[in-house]
Amino acid sequence: MSSLEEKALEKAKAAMENSYSPYSKFRVGAAIISTDDRIFAATNVENRSYGLTVCAERAAIFSAVAKGVRKIKYLALVSDSEKCITPCGACLQVISEFANDLKIESVNKNGQKETFTLKQLLPRSFKLK
Ligand code: THU
Repeated sequence: MSSLEEKALEKAKAAMENSYSPYSKFRVGAAIISTDDRIFAATNVENRSYGLTVCAERAAIFSAVAKGVRKIKYLALVSDSEKCITPCGACLQVISEFANDLKIESVNKNGQKETFTLKQLLPRSFKLK
């Protein structure tokens, strides 16, 4: 794990502390690293109209895009879960918009870590052509 990746993981953990998840009580933090080595972290934001909830991963990507990012190379994910979570299907598709492949590291509530790739979790993303 590079020092930048370690930093991203720390930022994901810090973002998780701000999770707005009063309905599920499931806190998630995500941090991405852009190909130009910037880190963007975010957390899940729920809503009383449940379907409006935004996952941590998409929140992180959208804030990066607003700063000009178009390519990402790493995703750190942390949760309160027993398991090391993987991004939901919708987030995988959104991630695939900005990366052909990507290293995803997920840390559970006990600090255990699992590593995945985008290709492994979403072998064939939707493409227009
Ligand atoms: N959630 C994420 O933020 N990322 C994931 O990868 C899976 C789920 C959030 C959405 C919701 O606020 C809560 O976790 C429970 O589904």
